[in-house]
Amino acid sequence: MGLTSKQSVIGMKSVFLETLRPATMSSQTNQRDSFTLLKKLDFIKTKKQWLVLISIIFISIVFLYPYLINWKEDFRTSLSPIEVLQQKIKNSFNLSSSQLRNTSDAPAGSRWRRVSWEEAVKAFSYQTSHACNNTCDRSDNASDCFSFTSEDWSRRLVSGDFTVRPFLKDGMYIYEFEKEYLSYPPLEDMKQLPDLKLSKITVFGMSNNTVRCGTGDVINGRVDLVDSYGHPRHRGGDEVRLWLVSKSEKQFRATGHVADLNNGSYLITGHCLWPGNIQINVAVVYPREYIRATLHQAQLSVTRYIYGNFINNSTQETTICWSLPNVIGRSCVCNLTRLSGQSFYCGKPINTRLTCNDFSATSVGPMIQPKNVTLQERDLIQKIPTRHILERTIPHSINVTSEEKGQPPKLKPCSLTPFNVTWNLTSPGGFWEPNMKWTSLHCERPEMSSTWAMSCLKNTTVMIFGDSNALRIFDVLNQMTNCTGVSYTLWPKAGTCSNNDSGITLSFTPHELPKYQHPYWTPKLDYKAVAEQIYVTPSVGKYIIIVHYYLHATPSHLSVVHSRIKSLSESIRHLARRNPDVLFAFRGPHVTSFDWDINHTTGGDSLGKFFLQLIQETFQDLRDKIVYLDGWGMALAIENAYLHPTDRVPQEMARTLLSFRCNETGYVPRLH
Ligand SMILES: *[C@@H]1O[C@H](CO)[C@@H](O)[C@H](O)[C@H]1NC(C)=O
Ligand SMILES: *[C@@H]1O[C@H](CO)[C@@H](O)[C@H](O)[C@H]1NC(C)=O
Ligand SMILES: *[C@@H]1O[C@H](CO)[C@@H](O)[C@H](O)[C@H]1NC(C)=O
Ligand SMILES: *[C@@H]1O[C@H](CO)[C@@H](O)[C@H](O)[C@H]1NC(C)=O
Ligand SMILES: *[C@@H]1O[C@H](CO)[C@@H](O)[C@H](O)[C@H]1NC(C)=O
Ligand SMILES: *[C@@H]1O[C@H](CO)[C@@H](O)[C@H](O)[C@H]1NC(C)=O
Ligand SMILES: *[C@@H]1O[C@H](CO)[C@@H](O)[C@H](O)[C@H]1NC(C)=O
Ligand SMILES: *[C@@H]1O[C@H](CO)[C@@H](O)[C@H](O)[C@H]1NC(C)=O
Ligand SMILES: *[C@@H]1O[C@H](CO)[C@@H](O)[C@H](O)[C@H]1NC(C)=O
Ligand SMILES: *[C@@H]1O[C@H](CO)[C@@H](O)[C@H](O)[C@H]1NC(C)=O
Ligand SMILES: *[C@@H]1O[C@H](CO)[C@@H](O)[C@H](O)[C@H]1NC(C)=O
Ligand SMILES: *[C@@H]1O[C@H](CO)[C@@H](O)[C@H](O)[C@H]1NC(C)=O
Repeated sequence: MGLTSKQSVIGMKSVFLETLRPATMSSQTNQRDSFTLLKKLDFIKTKKQWLVLISIIFISIVFLYPYLINWKEDFRTSLSPIEVLQQKIKNSFNLSSSQLRNTSDAPAGSRWRRVSWEEAVKAFSYQTSHACNNTCDRSDNASDCFSFTSEDWSRRLVSGDFTVRPFLKDGMYIYEFEKEYLSYPPLEDMKQLPDLKLSKITVFGMSNNTVRCGTGDVINGRVDLVDSYGHPRHRGGDEVRLWLVSKSEKQFRATGHVADLNNGSYLITGHCLWPGNIQINVAVVYPREYIRATLHQAQLSVTRYIYGNFINNSTQETTICWSLPNVIGRSCVCNLTRLSGQSFYCGKPINTRLTCNDFSATSVGPMIQPKNVTLQERDLIQKIPTRHILERTIPHSINVTSEEKGQPPKLKPCSLTPFNVTWNLTSPGGFWEPNMKWTSLHCERPEMSSTWAMSCLKNTTVMIFGDSNALRIFDVLNQMTNCTGVSYTLWPKAGTCSNNDSGITLSFTPHELPKYQHPYWTPKLDYKAVAEQIYVTPSVGKYIIIVHYYLHATPSHLSVVHSRIKSLSESIRHLARRNPDVLFAFRGPHVTSFDWDINHTTGGDSLGKFFLQLIQETFQDLRDKIVYLDGWGMALAIENAYLHPTDRVPQEMARTLLSFRCNETGYVPRLH
């Protein structure tokens, strides 16, 4: 029989969690190890001997370090030493051809350099200093003193008439996975892509393409990807997704788990959760080559920007704004991080009558042209996000037949279940039943009703932070609690409503800039950062805090959203220590296959799987304090394509959240 889901979890961990560790960690461990070694060498007595020994060690470290690092990196790719060697030989041959390409950006031959986010940002310190004066000389490649209005900027951005100032230069990376993907050359041959028709799905234990299972059983299998030449793909890194639906009108739907074997094959694990014929769907949503192109665009910061308007009396000027200091179009930058406490920058106005303090409004920029891509990459960027996930599946004729097998195990009420179960994403947290009713596999949830919601939220303040998808949870609770005070759509503004009879207050606050608001100007919104607001939440009183960061944050380099969720985790740790009556929830990202489909480069869910890993890692030690609301699994099971999944998703999330706090009768305090 195939591997159990536990084994695949371990496989995932060793490949992926490893790759996520931020830059500083490995060098720290190295240092610590050498100190312990030094202590043991007690045969050395004099100061001089010590000095000599330390110098020898220092010199060897300096000389050997690159090799040690390389060895470690090679090891991580889980290729055999022979394969690594072959790879190296291949890469050195590729060098000349990549030098010939005019879009050449392959760092072949150059040394990789890992940096931390802070270091990468600090590299732009001069640009943000008072001493920096905009140069209107185009020869410096970063300045463009000809655009002053949003119309003008948009024209240039859409036509591709701009010069990028990369956030990370060639060879620089923050996450191991970036290096992993960027060390492949950019796509130049469409036939090397996975060919859906030639790729194959095998379910272990099937005979004559039929598999039998009983409800509650796990089925395992493997997907072998093949390119259009008919050759097996030798490396992993493609994004493969699995979900199961009942063949009769898709009444039941569940998500499955996929583990990358790093050799072109993927292990799939699904659950037989209902009786009947089950359709297995396996989609290759993003080939490795596409993810590479997307990561590269993120490194260059070719993305959908926002605009900032600087106004003083009758003088105004528009520049480009972003979460990173390498904004295009101005050689100097305003560091507006102090506005919220999270990174935010705008090009500095050229007009000397305007200062950085005159930043007063924002609006959204257009979809822009990708930069430094091959023709083939451009083709993928324009086509892939316009295809529904069902157009990216591997055709097959495997028939899974599931039979009722006993009663499902009786689950404990969610109010008595530890929160950490919600963080286990290797097996489905639930499934959709007919009429889009969600059944939790974690614990038993009371039926959602207005009466129950109001009794559960009695004397409670619910604070919701994020974007429009967070606002939709606010809307659900708003409707359920007869909350009054808001009668219009809040986004991108903050607002509150209350039900004084029950002591319920609901608030919504958008997360920090940059966010995509409207094509017209929205006056500067000076809400405090999410983490700041959590820090100042009182130590007594009942609170529920729900946070969602996703579609407005992930079009940046992922280190940006990572820095935001790291601040968030610190603030949660702080508040959880002070106030035992706070329930935290993180609403995770969901799958989307449409919408940002016009010349899209970064955004949508294309880097979602890396964001998921960063979330899992950042909140690792807070899993018993935070309920994870898994948008990914819920949305994948229903083949969601849109930025806003159906209302059933926020509704079921609200129900799940309240279930962890209340039983049918009301609030159930947790023992700490
Ligand atoms: C982008 O390509 C141009 C030539 O097409 C090259 O001059 C430039 O160095 C490349 N930039 C990056 C960041 O790769
Ligand atoms: C911008 O300011 C913040 C503090 O407000 C600082 O941490 C950051 O390094 C600054 N950015 C640059 C590029 O210097
Ligand atoms: C920038 O401009 C100001 C005023 O125009 C001038 O005093 C200053 O020396 C300039 N700084 C640099 C680095 O050129
Ligand atoms: C598979 O199908 C073939 C013919 O279609 C049949 O002869 C064979 O017995 C089947 N095997 C099993 C295990 O059902
Ligand atoms: C703006 O107008 C005010 C009064 O109308 C004036 O005091 C101030 O100097 C003006 N500022 C600039 C930069 O022109
Ligand atoms: C799948 O198998 C079941 C049971 O063997 C059979 O009744 C059903 O017709 C099959 N469906 C398809 C589409 O082959
Ligand atoms: C959750 O935490 C409990 C202790 O509170 C522990 O026994 C259990 O193994 C944890 N479960 C998971 C899935 O991490
Ligand atoms: C996740 O849940 C599955 C199924 O309940 C279980 O087998 C697995 O051990 C869990 N993983 C962790 C890390 O607790
Ligand atoms: C909500 O308010 C309406 C009128 O304002 C009232 O008719 C209804 O009973 C209330 N619902 C609950 C559950 O209290
Ligand atoms: C809310 O709390 C106050 C005092 O803490 C209490 O008097 C009141 O009855 C509570 N309201 C509800 C609806 O439980
Ligand atoms: C998309 O890119 C093409 C050129 O590649 C351009 O002609 C078209 O206008 C762009 N569309 C939008 C909406 O930006
Ligand atoms: C709900 O929890 C409370 C407090 O723990 C308890 O007294 C009550 O019996 C529970 N109600 C149900 C229906 O389990």
